[in-house]
Order: sequence, then structure tokens, then C-alpha cells
Amino acid sequence: MRIHDVAVPNDWDRKGLPGWAYHSPALLELEREHVFRRHWQIAGHVSDVPEPGDYLTMDVVGERALVVRGQDGVVRAFHNICRHRGSRVVADDKGHCKNALVCPFHGWVYNLDGTLRGAARPRSFPELDKTEFGLKPLDLEIWMGFIFIRFRAGDQPSVAEIMKPVEAEIANYGLADMLPTGGISTTELPVNWKSVRDVDNEGYHVAMAHPALQDLYGSTYFDEPFVNGLSRSFATYNPHAGRRWSVRNYVRIAPEADHLPPHLRKAWIYYGMFPNNVLTIMPESVQFYQEFPIAPDRTVLRGAMYRYADEDRRTKAARYLALRIDRDTASEDQQLSIWSNESMLSKAFEGFYLSDLEYGVRTHHDHLRRVVPVLGLEKAPNETEMKTLNSALLSQA
Ligand code: FES
Repeated sequence: MRIHDVAVPNDWDRKGLPGWAYHSPALLELEREHVFRRHWQIAGHVSDVPEPGDYLTMDVVGERALVVRGQDGVVRAFHNICRHRGSRVVADDKGHCKNALVCPFHGWVYNLDGTLRGAARPRSFPELDKTEFGLKPLDLEIWMGFIFIRFRAGDQPSVAEIMKPVEAEIANYGLADMLPTGGISTTELPVNWKSVRDVDNEGYHVAMAHPALQDLYGSTYFDEPFVNGLSRSFATYNPHAGRRWSVRNYVRIAPEADHLPPHLRKAWIYYGMFPNNVLTIMPESVQFYQEFPIAPDRTVLRGAMYRYADEDRRTKAARYLALRIDRDTASEDQQLSIWSNESMLSKAFEGFYLSDLEYGVRTHHDHLRRVVPVLGLEKAPNETEMKTLNSALLSQA
């Protein structure tokens, strides 16, 4: 069952983005602004901040976000920037504060709703307005338990609107009540972020590059392209699979997921949300992952897994085995992204020539070209003129 009624056109342009786009510092600046700051990013799950005073932070594309649950139980997001001189208000990736956030530089104190409680040595300042000098808020939306933030408001639709085509399907899983299994992890790869996404956006390589996945769900897998910022890939595992140890034991141990409708009981589904978010839902768990650029050739991978609160021992064992399969897959993908990315520095590289089975890569690139139109240029523009040129192309669109 597909969510998008989109056939691959007969005469589509099988080229991907030009090679220069994977190694350009000026382009990366445009991507930071137009791709990452203006689109929704998964910050975590409500269960990562279960109690008032619990917080998590996230540093991406030159921005620092702080997500904190207030005394009133409401989860809010702010720039993690003190209004005095810009220090981080909290330094750790996650933690708990009693009932206020105290800046470690000079000790300004903020309430959990972001308003300023007071400056240290307040008589050294004129009267400070508690809201005006409060932490700067970020857009935040909670969808199915996942916390999405956005650094710049724009004309992008809400998360709920983007995810509407899959809302009914995902609602079967009760994601909002799930619990973290090990916290949010990050790791770094020496590649451009798009090389990570390109590999992830197609399953054409599964048969060759991912023996465990091929064993697990093989020919049932299909990709749906990006349409209005949303893609979906779907597979059902073969209950008789078993050439590999982890797969054999996973299909043997995995309990019948009778909390799900029959067509989802053996489904592994990957939902992509432009530009870089993925939710992977399996019968026993959900994961999110995403990638952020640090430099043209450096990318951070970030993600976490969540489980059912009433998980039994068999489900726990199946989840562990699924994670093993997934870790093998991730490390295989990482190698592929390195090889793809480095090839673009060669004079011999002539660009992608995509299969119909890689239409998801093309549609992701089409989305990117809409927000950063210089990506439509085959020849690299001058680095110093790229921003101006992109603005001109955007104004013509
Ligand atoms: Fe935060 Fe000075 S920078 S109190």
C-alpha cells in the first residue's frame, strides 16, 4: 500500500546534483540558512524530558537549541543563548534543573518558561523587562510524541501538515507513549551531508550492499519518492528468513505484533521528512535519525531509539536483534557515502546516472533545488558570488 500516487516518469532527468555541490563552502552557507534553519528538525521525544526541569540541547548549523519542560508540564524550545553576553545557559547535552536555569557565566537566572527571573547584581543594570530579556523562543511542534524545532519561521507547513498522508498509519503505533532505550547519540563522518542522505534515499543498493536487510525483507522493499517534503519506504520481513545469525534469530523471536493491523505486523517502515529527518518504525520500536553538516566534508549523524513501555522479554530481545541488523546497515551505508563523496573530487566524475529505483534521490534533489536554486547549475558558480546569484534565482522563482 503506497501513500503517494506517483509513478516514475518515462523521461526523467537521471542526473543528480552536480559534484561541486558536495565540496563547496559557499553552498554550505546557503544550505545552513535555506535548508536547515528554515525546516523542521527532530530534537527528541517527549520522553527525553519527562519531568519539569528536564532539558536537552542540540547544536546544529551554528545554532544552539535548548528544549526544556516547564513547571506547568509544557515543553518549550529556546536558543541556548544567554541574553546577557551569549553564554550557553546550559552546557550539557541533557540534564535536569530544579526550577530555574542559571547561566554559568555571570549567573543570570531564567524561569523554565524562558522568562528572566533576574540578573546577578541587578542594581548594576537599569530595570530589565522579564520577557524582553527572556530566552529567545524557537518554533516547536510535538507530533506523535516527537519534538520538532525550527530556527527560522517561514512559510513552511506544520509538521502535522507534512506528515498528514502517513498520520493514520503511524497512529497505530502509539509513539507518544514510548520510552528512550539509550539516549540520543551522535557520531561524525568525513563526508558531505548530502552523500549520507543520497545513500539513505534509495533501496536500489540493498540487495548488493546490505546482506542482512536483503535476507530480512529482500524483494518486498519499495521506496516512494519525496512529495511535499515526505517520503516513505516500506518492507515486510520474511518470517522464514535466516541466512544470517541476527536475522534468523530476529524472525524466530519477534512476537506476533497483534497490537498492529495485520499489514503492519511485520513491517519495517522508513518515513523521510525533508531535508534530513527519518523515522524508522518497526513492530517493536521506533528510531529517529538525521544528519547535520559541520563543514563541506564533515557531517554529524544524530539519532535515538524508543521502545514500548510494557515491553516483554521477547520483544526486548527482538528489538536488540533489530538494532544489530540496523547497526550493520548503518556502517555499510557510511562506507558507501564516503566512497560516493570522495569520487566527486575526481576529474573523472561525471555525475550520477540514476535508476528508476533511485527516483527518491532525484526528488530529494528537486526539493533542494527549489530552496537553493544554484544547485541547478551544472558548473560551479564563483564561491564569492554564490549567495548573490542564489538570491537572484530565488527572486525569479
Ligand atoms: Fe549569561 Fe553573563 S553571559 S550571565
